[in-house]
Formats: sequence, C-alpha cells, structure tokens
Amino acid sequence: MMPLAAKTPPLPRPDRLARAAADTALMAEIRAGLAKPQKELPSRLLYDELGTALFEALTLLPEYGLTRADQRLLEQQAGAIARLLPERVLVTELGSGSGRKTRPLLAAVSRRAPVNYFPIDVSAAALDRCRRELLAEPEQAADSRGIHIVGLEGTYLEKLREAVRRRQPGEAVLVLFLGSTIGNFDRGAAKIFLWRIRSLLRRGDFLLLGADLEKPAAQLLAAYADALGITAAFNLNLLRHLNRDFGGNFALESFRHQARYNAPARRIEMHLVAQIPLHCRAAGLEIELAAGETIWTESSHKFTPAGLRRMAAASGFRPVAEWRDAEWPFCEALWRAEAQS
Ligand code: AVJ
Repeated sequence: MMPLAAKTPPLPRPDRLARAAADTALMAEIRAGLAKPQKELPSRLLYDELGTALFEALTLLPEYGLTRADQRLLEQQAGAIARLLPERVLVTELGSGSGRKTRPLLAAVSRRAPVNYFPIDVSAAALDRCRRELLAEPEQAADSRGIHIVGLEGTYLEKLREAVRRRQPGEAVLVLFLGSTIGNFDRGAAKIFLWRIRSLLRRGDFLLLGADLEKPAAQLLAAYADALGITAAFNLNLLRHLNRDFGGNFALESFRHQARYNAPARRIEMHLVAQIPLHCRAAGLEIELAAGETIWTESSHKFTPAGLRRMAAASGFRPVAEWRDAEWPFCEALWRAEAQS
C-alpha cells in the first residue's frame, strides 16, 4: 500500500506561509469581532468543507432561489453577454467555487476565440473540482476545447492582480463576481471593494456582477430560515469550524439559528442566539454571553437595479446591460470600466 504521505504531499513552502498568514489574519478578525458589543464572527468561517457542502445543499431548497436564478440567467443570457464583449477576453472569477454556473458563458465566449480562464478561490479543493469538471464534462468537451484554465488560490484582490498581469496583447479582462457575494459586504465596504477592482483594470475591461434584488421580507425570511433547517446547520457549523481550527469550545446545542430582516439596511442578517448564559473560549479569548445575546455571523444585502447602476458610476464603471430573473428577483449587471475620477 502506498504510504498516505505520498498521496498528500506537503504544500510547497510559500503556500504554507501564505496560508499561515491568512490564518493569522482570520484569527485577528475573530478576536476583534468577539470583543465588540454586538459580537460578530467572520462569515468566511461558514465555508469549511462541511459548510461548503451545506451551502450547496441549501441552493436546492425551494425557499432559496438565489443561486438557481443566477444559474438560469447565465445559461439563458450567455450568448447575449458574449456578444457585448470584445472578441478576445481573459475571464477571471472571484470566488469561483466549482465554477458550474460559469460554464455556459465560457462556452459562448470560447466559440469565438480561445479564452483564458482564471478562477480565484481560497479553497484549493474548489479549484481542483472547477478544473476537473470543466474539462471532463462530456457535453462540454467540445465547447471547452478553446478554454485554458489556471486556478489561482488566494484572496480576491491579490489574485485578481496576478490574473490581470497575464493579459495577452489585445485581450480585454472580464471579471466575474457572481452569486451576490457582494451582498456579504457592508454597503460602504462594497463600494470600496468595487473601486479597488476597477483600479486593477484598464478602461474597456468588464465586470459582470450578480446581485440579489430586494423582495418581500417574508420571502427572504423563509429563504434564510428554511423548514428543513439546512440554513440553521450551515450557520451553526461556523461554531464547529471555530472550535476545531481556532481553539473554541462553544457548545453548539446552546445556540439557535436566527434570520432577521433589517429593513432600514435592506439586508438579511444571520445570528446565533445563546439560549442560556454562557462562558466560552475561542481564539485565546474568554467570552461571556447572556441568555438571548447573539453572535452576528452574516449579512446578505439586497439591491435595486437603480442602486446597482449608482454603485457602478461611483466606482468607475458604466452600466452596459442588465438581465433580471422573472421567478426570483435577481440581477446580472454588465459594467464597463471607464475613467476613474
Ligand atoms: C453565497 C453569500 C450569496 O447571502 O444568500 C445562503 C450565503 N447564507 N444562506 C447569501 C447564504 C445563508 C449566500 N451568499
């Protein structure tokens, strides 16, 4: 039998260092969040291996239409989107995951000219799957001939800078930021983030942004507090991840999942509510929670098409086109990089 170590070689040193640095940053974020009056934990902690599987499961829930709307739009509009782009594009995607919903667009773009695709993700496993599925899917095999894929493991802006450096002469860059991940940022931080993306681009490059639109609070609450309890498991799993990797000792059964609609901020918030007074530890901190006190774990901001257009203008882009889903209000917005004032 092959020794296990042969199957899982140690990471090369630079990667190990980068990961250690990322863990240190996350540790600092955890400590800062738990020290706030309204305790918070970074929503990135939702996505360990089990968390990613739970997220994928919840995209199948009838109550949670967001991901299916995104997928439907990209499938239906791939040709229309491709026609608005220059013939030769370098496609890069922030938080690609398995990259499944991107495939129709890549196929449409590569029908005209070979395309370089740089999916960016913090998860090496996701990038691996992304490459294997893209290249192996039988019905995609013909379409994927012109697609050259290189996964970049790391944080969005750092790896976007790297992807853009690989631009060939005459190539425009198309950045994909799908799935309403933008909704996880506070509104101010979202504008700054879009501005930074723009700063890494040239005039004439493009951004395709997928954003969840405002809808009735009852519909949103059902989507984020589903009857099967998948979202609850997804939220609670964050504590498991914290316990395992960041020295926590939170008793999961002492917490309950809560989804709130914050109407003035136009966002869903996920919280974990302590059911009894608790004394816990994590990331080297001692933490007291009163009964009923919450830890805020995620924000999911909702948008209007007009608000998205204003965000484009404020960050150095011009809205070129937008597509909305009829079943689940969701918007794909195509923006072109313009002069940044
Ligand atoms: C992947 C960030 C878009 O905000 O709806 C799903 C994550 N949280 N259910 C979202 C999520 C609870 C999701 N995003």
